[in-house]
Amino acid sequence: MLLPFTKLTPVGAKEGEPLHQGYHLGARTAATGVRPAVTPFSVRMPVPPVLQPAQSAYGTDIYKMVIKPAEVEIVPGLRTPVLTYGGSFVGPTIRAKSGRAVKIVYGNRLDMPANVHLHGGHVPPGSDGHPMDVIQPGEARLYDYPNTQQGATLWYHDHSHHMEAEHVYRGMHGFYLIDDDSERSLRLPQGAYDVPIMLRDSEFDETGGLIFFDDPANRTTILANGKIQPYFPVAARKYRFRLLNASNEHVFRLNLGGQEMMKIASDGGLLPAPVPVTELVLASAERTEIVVDFSRHPVGEQLILFNGSDPVLRFDVTREAADDSWLPDVLRPLPALPVAPVEREVAMSFDLSGTDPVGLVNGRPFDPGRVDFQIRRGTTEIWHVRNADTITIDHTFHMHLAQFQVLDRNGGPPLPQDAGLKDTVHVPPGGSLRIQATFGDYLGRYVYHCHYLEHSSIGMMAQMEIIA
Ligand code: C2O
Ligand code: CU
Ligand code: CU
Repeated sequence: MLLPFTKLTPVGAKEGEPLHQGYHLGARTAATGVRPAVTPFSVRMPVPPVLQPAQSAYGTDIYKMVIKPAEVEIVPGLRTPVLTYGGSFVGPTIRAKSGRAVKIVYGNRLDMPANVHLHGGHVPPGSDGHPMDVIQPGEARLYDYPNTQQGATLWYHDHSHHMEAEHVYRGMHGFYLIDDDSERSLRLPQGAYDVPIMLRDSEFDETGGLIFFDDPANRTTILANGKIQPYFPVAARKYRFRLLNASNEHVFRLNLGGQEMMKIASDGGLLPAPVPVTELVLASAERTEIVVDFSRHPVGEQLILFNGSDPVLRFDVTREAADDSWLPDVLRPLPALPVAPVEREVAMSFDLSGTDPVGLVNGRPFDPGRVDFQIRRGTTEIWHVRNADTITIDHTFHMHLAQFQVLDRNGGPPLPQDAGLKDTVHVPPGGSLRIQATFGDYLGRYVYHCHYLEHSSIGMMAQMEIIA
């Protein structure tokens, strides 16, 4: 669906008083996209650099990052203006450790407010990147990440209200990986053989600029770590790939042309056991981790990762290598599900009755002054999440603060992509799921929302408050 972006008043702002001014990089009228002329598999897929701490002391690593505009080469030979964390289109990777705190100072050098949300993180409310809690231009802000959670592939992105869709689309996204000592004994592939891959969609104009104000269905150019159809040289051994769908609104159907992949983790970390799959369905903001054993393929062989039938990335087996990694039969058990004393309904939909569409949760657009659910700290709840639209449109559901487990989907068993600890799930037309979460740790306000960011940015978001 094409949402008319031109006349939106940010929710929470008065008529004629936008929350942010002077922020748009591109024309607000829909431009015509071009399919960049790229020779497939001619560019190597980069691995985003791991950021080094500016300081390490007393069980804490302190990092510094700057939020700033940059120009990067995505389409070969052209410069693309982007918005970044740390100057690169896929921001630097933070490698945190379970049980060891991270603090990050972010300086905002944009000419507009921005912030940082650690997607999937259990963090205090003041460090969660609440949509109304932004860093003003020229200012800096310290975010506190205690990492009191098990190993997982998280990511960080902008969450400044009304602007999150454009900011993330223009490049404000990066990986935040939590390593876990208890995973060490599993001897999964690590180091250079543990590779995060950010997949996302995009649409370009003929100068290489990213087109934001157009129908998201025209974002047909898929990027792998910021490159179009790159290749990635691999050794003939096992690799761990951490796949993230960082698209604003897209469901990927990933496959290796029928080859088997072993799925080992989802949003919140390891599954109880590896699951052999030939296809991975990955909706916006979801993560999945796989182990691929290239030792089954002779040096010289090439394997293509497809989205449906669209080639996204090619793995080139270029050399032999020793491999002392394992793929154990048992990974990590899921936490038990206690009896849930509270059940709630969460319905996502659009109000299309006015000139502009408005996103709704339980019939109401986001209001930062309103608490939609009050939740007692430590309680376990079952939420019934559904797509309440009568038009055919996808949503995803994402909850801050807690990881949940999917109990059932459309009255039947969960789908393979629902397995494990989750913070984001696909809610397609007619979709209805029951999820169970325990709300521990922190008191305060957190949001839950559709992670189709064009939807959350026009109101498809609500707020919970964890109380004592
Ligand atoms: Cu990925 Cu509310 O966030
Ligand atoms: Cu989040
Ligand atoms: Cu939605």
